[in-house]
Amino acid sequence: MKFITIKSYDELSAKAADIIAAQVIMKPTCVLGLATGSTPIGTYKRLIEDYNNGKIDFSTVKSINLDEYVGLDGNHDQSYRYFMNNNLFNHVNIDKANTYVPNGCATDYDKECAEYDKRVQDFGGIDLQLLGIGIDGHIGFNEPDSIFTKETHVVDLHPSTIDANARFFEDKSLVPKKAVTMGMLSIMQAKKVLLVANGANKKDILEKAFFGPINPQIPASILQLHPDVTVIYSEN
Ligand code: GLP
Repeated sequence: MKFITIKSYDELSAKAADIIAAQVIMKPTCVLGLATGSTPIGTYKRLIEDYNNGKIDFSTVKSINLDEYVGLDGNHDQSYRYFMNNNLFNHVNIDKANTYVPNGCATDYDKECAEYDKRVQDFGGIDLQLLGIGIDGHIGFNEPDSIFTKETHVVDLHPSTIDANARFFEDKSLVPKKAVTMGMLSIMQAKKVLLVANGANKKDILEKAFFGPINPQIPASILQLHPDVTVIYSEN
């Protein structure tokens, strides 16, 4: 594992974008695993700049996102599909038909989840998986649990996650209570993992996840077993 502590959010965003840009340049047909949350927004802004400067071309890239809130369709401004369109896809030349976000309004979640996992397998796995981390150690929406859940699944969000994400909604009562998330298997099978974390409130959980025991109560701790993980952390 490479744990990089960096001075500012801007530098974090630049470094993360450089790693993703290098992946796209080295393998133009790569599969990017993408994440939402406030932390990657700066990274996406840098990637848009790289695209506008002619440094990267997304025309043959595929992307698959980690998660989506149950009950929000892609037009809802707090859905993760909307977030991805707004923060990245609408501004680069990726083919939207090659971008995947779980369906938050599925009628059959068993089917939706199984198809999501199969899609990753059919792609031959994810080349580079971008992750953030929740203050309870969740990655995607893999919440603390008694086991590491391998497959894509529907999860009850923890009260701390609902509290943390309430800032994006008009009222806390509007935060969905459930989400659909990619499981650990697809994340752990990614060839490279890049985790970005920003702010003093993430310090403790990073310490536990990367320097403590591997434990499903700290979902991100399983990444200690991944052969190619880069963590970029900026306190400011
Ligand atoms: C959400 C997402 C996670 C993300 C986390 C942290 O819960 N499902 O993928 O890592 O938020 O977000 P932030 O970067 O805003 O702290």
